[in-house]
Amino acid sequence: MNRPGILVTGGTGYIGSHTTVELIKAGYHVVIIDNLSNSNVAVLDGIEAITGVRPDFVEADCTDIKALRALFEQYTDIKGIINFAASKAVGESVQKPLLYYRNNLNTLMNLLECMSEYKVDGIVFSSSCTVYGEPDDNPVTENSPIKPATSPYGNTKQISEEIIEDVIHSGAPFKSVILRYFNPVGAHPSALIGELPNGVPQNLIPYLTQTAIGIRKELAVFGDDYNTPDGSCIRDFINVVDLAKAHVTAVERLIEDKCATPVEIFNLGTGNGVSVLELINTFEEATGVKVPYRIAPRREGDIEKVWANPTHANEVLGWVADTPLADTMRSAWKWQLALREKGIM
Ligand code: UFG
Repeated sequence: MNRPGILVTGGTGYIGSHTTVELIKAGYHVVIIDNLSNSNVAVLDGIEAITGVRPDFVEADCTDIKALRALFEQYTDIKGIINFAASKAVGESVQKPLLYYRNNLNTLMNLLECMSEYKVDGIVFSSSCTVYGEPDDNPVTENSPIKPATSPYGNTKQISEEIIEDVIHSGAPFKSVILRYFNPVGAHPSALIGELPNGVPQNLIPYLTQTAIGIRKELAVFGDDYNTPDGSCIRDFINVVDLAKAHVTAVERLIEDKCATPVEIFNLGTGNGVSVLELINTFEEATGVKVPYRIAPRREGDIEKVWANPTHANEVLGWVADTPLADTMRSAWKWQLALREKGIM
């Protein structure tokens, strides 16, 4: 199969690496650009071990348009872009807003500029359910109201979506699929790639698995007095490989000109809301490993409950996130064990 090139920005990161694996399996030539600010080049070994193919890799920053142009001059077969390159820590974005606006927005604008110059058909953009804020109703559809952003990080996702809409409506010669992720968790079942957080994890699953293996003393559950059945927050936890597969379908729609509109938006979630306490319980049952935890005060800025209505993605993309949560928890645990085995953590 001789399929075109796909540029995966942030391709050595968590979701980028899993998506690269699925793209290679689907027969695409993948070029990764990553500045390695929050990932390790050894991820390429994991991708190669799974697929038998090593993706092309350019170590550069997407805010550097000269580097991007050089990349497009070198790889002339690129027809689609999947943009994962972004800073993503909510708390850090409050401390360093300019870093977030600069990284996330300049990256996107540089890519859009190059797309016209180098005749790229389309861009898949990583957005987030953060755009729905605290929803009035669950599950949320793509038409649920967009709420004011509560962090610079969230604002970069909203502004990025607007930039894409504006540029495409101005007549730019390409299309876009915007994917709004819910909470991606787990790792590739091979445990050859997974999530590698820098320092103390801010997200639930890496903190949970690091606690289960003894790196952290206990997991703090942020609040048990929310208006939910067990009092803890509710999220839509989606398996990262399921999520990665949606990108292959999305980029295919762009390069094969199958999009119904120049900008398409999809929620990527399972449709099931699961509470933090239920998730801990699922992990313990799936792995047989206990997670020491305590109830802690609420974390500022947390949404009480949000989960997806994924019908639009199910019907239009023919995609469904159907990996059982217990399997996903086992994959996260296997990955944590592999990190210990490799002496990484
Ligand atoms: N949580 C804990 N203890 C922890 C970490 C998290 O109880 O140590 C809880 C949080 O309070 C929350 C849930 O677990 O209720 C999930 O928290 P995460 O930090 O894993 O994920 P969030 O839902 O807060 O964040 C995600 C993405 C962001 C996105 C945000 C939108 O990571 O990119 O959703 O709300 F912006």
